Parts: sequence; C-alpha cells; structure tokens
Amino acid sequence: MTIRLVTLTGQDARLWLEPALDIYVTAMRYPRGTEVHRAALWREHIGRPGWRALGAVTTVSPHEAHTLPGSRRRVQPPVGLGENDVLVGIAYGYTGAPDQWWNQQLRLGLRQRGHPAEVVEGIAADYFELTELHVHPSAQGRGIGQWLLGRLLTERPESHVLLSTPEIPEERNRAWSLYRRMGFTDVLRNFTFTGDPRPFAFLGRRLPVDLGPAAGPQP
Ligand SMILES: CC(C)(COP(=O)(O)OP(=O)(O)OC[C@H]1O[C@@H](n2cnc3c(N)ncnc32)[C@H](O)[C@@H]1OP(=O)(O)O)[C@@H](O)C(=O)NCCC(=O)NCCS
Repeated sequence: MTIRLVTLTGQDARLWLEPALDIYVTAMRYPRGTEVHRAALWREHIGRPGWRALGAVTTVSPHEAHTLPGSRRRVQPPVGLGENDVLVGIAYGYTGAPDQWWNQQLRLGLRQRGHPAEVVEGIAADYFELTELHVHPSAQGRGIGQWLLGRLLTERPESHVLLSTPEIPEERNRAWSLYRRMGFTDVLRNFTFTGDPRPFAFLGRRLPVDLGPAAGPQP
C-alpha cells in the first residue's frame, strides 16, 4: 500500500470532508449518522486561526474504489490523483484560544485540580490543539498515524501541543501507544467534559517534535 500525505485545504473541503468523516465514524466505532452532526463542527473548525489538515491517500483497485465501503472514501483530484484514490487517514488541528469550548473545559479541569492561575495559563495558552487523528482500520498498524501526526506538528509557531483522548484501561490502544511513543505526557487525567460521562485524558508535549530519520510508513 503506497501512501502519500496531502495538505487538505478549506476550499477543497467538499471533496474530502465526507470521506474524512467516514474514517472518523469507522475508526472510532461510532454509530452511522454521527458524521451528520460532526460535519458542521468540522466545517466551523476550518475557519479557526492556525487550522491545518492533512490526509493520507492511497490508490486502490477500480473494484475497491467503486464498491462499498471504499466508495465512501474516494477523493477526487486535486485531493486524490485519480478516480481510484481513497482517503485512509485524516489529521487536523488549530491554535487554541480562550473563546473555544475545549480550552474552557481544560482550564476548568486544571482549576478543579487546584492548579494556580499561572500554571493554568502556562498550559492553556500558546498551544496547538490536535483535534482529530484517525486512520481507517484497513490501513492501521503501518505507521500512518505517526507520519500524519509528525508532519502536522512540523513548523508550528506554538510552544506546545495538547490533545484529549478517552481514558482506556492500562492505556492499551493504538492511540495511547502512539502518543506515548511520540513523547506526550499527562496534563490532566480522568476529566469528564460537560455533557459526556466518559473520562478523558489531556496529554501534551513541547514543540518542535524531532521526527528523526523516520520518513514515512512501510508499504
Ligand atoms: C490512533 C490511530 C490514529 C493510529 O494510527 P496508526 O496508523 O494505526 O498508528 P501508528 O502509526 O502508531 O501505527 C500503529 C502500529 O504500527 C507500528 N508502526 C509504526 N511505524 C511503522 C512502520 N513504519 N511500519 C510498520 N509498522 C509501524 C507501530 O509500532 C504501532 O504499533 P502498536 O499499535 O502496536 O504500538 C489509529 O489507530 C486510529 O485511528 N484509531 C482509532 C481512532 C482513534 O483512537 N483516534 C484517536 C482518538 S484521540
């Protein structure tokens, strides 16, 4: 499987948004229909300062490209190179800001744990929020997630990167092992966002990220 990373632009959103949301609901095992609600939110994120998005694209056989489930992820040029190209991964984020709900939740959580105002400010200001990172299950385990994340975090102006991810017993899933491998450490654990009973962890690390010799995933 030959993968290439492509920069996804706001102007081309009509070409990649639906395929990206299909990866999201499949990778997260959310019920079909979740993407309808998410589409408006993801579109709104495109307008946020510092927004940047990358896709991982591969060429499949004409049969795979035109039959379900592959057809949902087909990407037309210029996102894909031809009609048999499908999206297999998506990553995006933007610069955090105090008027964002996620930032307010983070500040609330840090205050609840007794952190003084200057510590809260040091964490919840000047950061890049990794908002979404998903690789389709058919393409997981080849280093694509790491490649997307490493590339997304290059040449960012912020001092650090933050993300939130569901708490998993013993941190045993691919997301946790990827974040730990890439040097993310605990910022806030077992936090419940308003309106969602599931516990989440906030993780972070300083920028820049040293990518080392790893150029990309194996075929
Ligand atoms: C989390 C996620 C984005 C990671 O993507 P991925 O491409 O599978 O992840 P990686 O790049 O780490 O690759 C996974 C495995 O391939 C291995 N790998 C890394 N580079 C590799 C390479 N060049 N060649 C072969 N294997 C490689 C890693 O060791 C890793 O093994 P592990 O999972 O046993 O630790 C993906 O699994 C996913 O979408 N999960 C569901 C959705 C989700 O949880 N998203 C994050 C929500 S916060």
